[in-house]
Amino acid sequence: MKMWSGRFRQPLNPEFESWQRSFPFDKQLLSEEVAASSAYAAALEKLGILSLAESKQIVDALRALEADAAKNAAVLDDEEAEDIHHFVERELVKRIGEAGYKLHNGRSRNEQIATDLRLFVRAQIDETVDLIADLADAFAAKAGEAGEAEMPAYTHLQRAEPVLVAHWLLAYVEMFLRDAERLKDCRERLNVCPLGSGAIAGSTLPLDRSAMAKQLNFDGPTTNSMDATSDRDFAIEFTQVLALLGVHLSRWAEEQIIFCTQEFGFVKLPESFSTGSSAMPQKQNPDLLELVRGKSARLMANAQFMLANVKGLALAYNKDLQETQIPVFDSTQTVTAMLRHCAGYMREVQFDFERMKQAAQAHSMNAFAAATYLARKGVAFRRAHEVIGAAVRLCIDKGCELEGLSLDELKALNPAFENDFYQAVKLQAVLDCHDVVGGTARGRVKNALADAKERIAKIRNSKVRGGAVYAHT
Ligand code: ARG
Repeated sequence: MKMWSGRFRQPLNPEFESWQRSFPFDKQLLSEEVAASSAYAAALEKLGILSLAESKQIVDALRALEADAAKNAAVLDDEEAEDIHHFVERELVKRIGEAGYKLHNGRSRNEQIATDLRLFVRAQIDETVDLIADLADAFAAKAGEAGEAEMPAYTHLQRAEPVLVAHWLLAYVEMFLRDAERLKDCRERLNVCPLGSGAIAGSTLPLDRSAMAKQLNFDGPTTNSMDATSDRDFAIEFTQVLALLGVHLSRWAEEQIIFCTQEFGFVKLPESFSTGSSAMPQKQNPDLLELVRGKSARLMANAQFMLANVKGLALAYNKDLQETQIPVFDSTQTVTAMLRHCAGYMREVQFDFERMKQAAQAHSMNAFAAATYLARKGVAFRRAHEVIGAAVRLCIDKGCELEGLSLDELKALNPAFENDFYQAVKLQAVLDCHDVVGGTARGRVKNALADAKERIAKIRNSKVRGGAVYAHT
């Protein structure tokens, strides 16, 4: 039986009928639907609308359905079901008869989908935060392995100053930690329960909304039924945070792609995350990285879709909202795979520290430190900058580095130069002169790594992974 056929004289156009269904994708919400319906059954039982026996029968049947579907995906093959809500009702009636129809008393699918989607996004946030922590751990482990290895850092993709490899890797850890924070922040706001909002105006039954919220581990009930049934802010935010996470992964992927070229040669691609060319036998291509960069576009498009879908909707529920599930599912699946593969790649990738070190010492990358040396000797920094600029020009003409100039040559540019100049522009000294919170001095980076590891451990969810997300009481 349809959930709404009474007033209709004619059957639906058969093609339209199957086209308007959401069951092909919202079947993913079975666990959420079961959890929300169990909470609703308990609330109906409290009101005396369901007897204790009926509510138990319903909850048992819901659990059995979930367990059966987990064992056998074919349970979810239903050509008639319009959506997950209809499917569950049909299954209930199949399993326990007429009592199955009693569950929809005082309830609307509008509040159900709003609830299911919140539960789904909440669970995905928890999963994603843990996956981010795994990836951040892989970055931190590489940073630990790199020790005091040096590399050039770039601005405008031109060599700028040397940094520690660990410092570079920890820059990404910062981005990932912010992404995790944003997800947690979104979770806080979404954690309210729409059940009891009815179709638009609130339920016609005096339901204990707080009890339902509590049973589903929400902080409390939503406060306005019109908002609750049409709000998708939480899903929009979720896809936006994932889009930004995608942007971070894409920047990293692009950088790895540049660094693994023969021209740079900093990164040795792991074969396990590369493919070859069907035409050119010598090729090893950075496919994982390219796909991460490509898929980040999908995450951005999904976030954009969410905004576009909702922007023209008068309150409250409109069927357009059904479409918002698709990008939520797609972004979730996309980001989960991206995070897993990126962590796997990071565990295997090798860096050519020797080559990175050579690059960190070439092309007068110690010029800023050299100017700082002069400034420490009392020369105004603007003047010092000019003097070192002239020294670099001389180096270019002579084909040498700053430390290749003699003291006489230097003194001719400015009398403040002394013998300790040569010490001050050595690679380690250049690193260590950035001795400030957030700087690349070796001691600072050592502390930053320890601190990052602690912060990564803290963002992990204490909850057992893959364990029971919903309380069926
Ligand atoms: N499948 C629908 C959705 O995902 C459920 C809500 C349907 N409500 C309605 N009034 N037709 O949006």
